Amino acid sequence: MNAQTLSVPAAIRARRTTRHYRPDPVPRELLDELLDLAVEAPTAWNMQDRSIVMVTSASGRRDLSNAAFGQPQPLEAPVMLVFVAETAAWQAENADIAELAVRNGAWNADFTAMFHSRSEFHSLRQRGLTRENAVKNAMIAATYVMLAATSLGLSSAPMNGWDPDLVKKAIGIEDRPDLAIAVMVAIGYSDTTAPYPGRRPREHTVFTERYPSSRS
Ligand SMILES: Cc1cc2nc3c(=O)[nH]c(=O)nc-3n(C[C@H](O)[C@H](O)[C@H](O)COP(=O)(O)O)c2cc1C
Repeated sequence: MNAQTLSVPAAIRARRTTRHYRPDPVPRELLDELLDLAVEAPTAWNMQDRSIVMVTSASGRRDLSNAAFGQPQPLEAPVMLVFVAETAAWQAENADIAELAVRNGAWNADFTAMFHSRSEFHSLRQRGLTRENAVKNAMIAATYVMLAATSLGLSSAPMNGWDPDLVKKAIGIEDRPDLAIAVMVAIGYSDTTAPYPGRRPREHTVFTERYPSSRS
């Protein structure tokens, strides 16, 4: 594997959305490292209620491009990652999560009991927020992937422009209303670095203590 990795700050500054890719495949060991880093992303209650479906076949990527209104990234990038939010995962037993955390000395008895009670998830369900919760967790994993990809010398592109029913069909979950598509991320190599579109001055988006009342 390429040992020349970028630091997190350097990767944040270097990452650009890449819309065109060379056909070069991503080496398996690099993909393994990327996916290992992706699943290190945190989730609420460590529920890990998001999955990543990796699509590399030409037919699968064509289906994803069609689902994405013909956008080129899935056709050109050798790897597409589809981030699936598992809105009902909290209702499964998930005892292995608690067992591992206890074995690792990370959770005490009180925290473990709260995990098993699922009290926060029941509250989320009452408020209609279980989907939002799972999508947040999936988006954090996607963010990890984009930064890790840059760090490892890969290009990436987040994608939200797609028909969810068609994306679900492309990965074989069209009959699963409990699963939602959070985002897709294209991964591959680019010949060129996309230009930096820039950001507004920090004063425009970062505030201290209170959101400004003058802001509409
Ligand atoms: C959640 C999300 C969804 C996006 N979806 C698309 C997309 O479907 N197609 C596309 O071309 N770019 C998409 N983008 C890329 C944005 O346009 C891009 O991030 C933005 O212009 C800033 O450019 P940068 O990523 O190079 O900093 C998406 C970005 C995010 C964060």
